[in-house]
Amino acid sequence: MVHSAQYMSSSVEVTSCPKGVLPEYAFIGRSNVGKSSLINMLTNQNGLAKTSSKPGKTLLINHFLVNANRSDAWYLVDLPGYGFAKAGMEQREKLKQMIERYCLYREQLVSLFVLVDSRLEPQKIDLQFMTWLGEQGIPFAIVFTKVDKLGRERLKLNVEAYKKELLETWEELPPIFLTSSENRVGGEELLAYIEKVNEELRH
Ligand code: GTP
Ligand code: MG
Repeated sequence: MVHSAQYMSSSVEVTSCPKGVLPEYAFIGRSNVGKSSLINMLTNQNGLAKTSSKPGKTLLINHFLVNANRSDAWYLVDLPGYGFAKAGMEQREKLKQMIERYCLYREQLVSLFVLVDSRLEPQKIDLQFMTWLGEQGIPFAIVFTKVDKLGRERLKLNVEAYKKELLETWEELPPIFLTSSENRVGGEELLAYIEKVNEELRH
């Protein structure tokens, strides 16, 4: 349950992220996949996270505090996208480092959500990133975005193809969610998952 959500901070590096012990969940994926839009849907606040039709909008580690002053408070984190070609080599490398260091060293990070565009076949850059997460022992779930852009059958085929691809390298599939920020689909399942994990952490 999201009772409230507020912007907390934007950090250039993991060492300047908010202190404390609240559990946090971060959204990652290619630029323009819909990370910021999904955060707005989950918190029911359009404009909380800045979105854009052009890739490369989010360039910092943005923390949003959910359920402030309650025992079930937690952070949602909006990360910059990876693999944005137009950003230029130097900036791309800088963002890559920011993301990797956040994933490796943020102790409060409970799970990442890797967002993938439901219209596309499995992309190398996403699979590589998930492989890296696996090697580092960083838990993640997969979130298919923009399902409003596809028919039911096509979506089913794409998700099945993705699972098949994952099972080439993974023994077990991670949790998988289907979402549309446009049509407000899939938010409840995602929040229920976060709530369940938070509940387990408290016990
Ligand atoms: P960066 O911050 O640049 O890495 O991008 P992002 O992943 O945060 O993407 P953002 O949320 O800014 O959305 C990118 C574009 O996709 C915007 O034009 C959104 O309106 C659009 N978009 C996001 N989610 C959906 C969705 O579920 N359905 C549709 N049709 N469009 C979406
Ligand atoms: Mg963004």
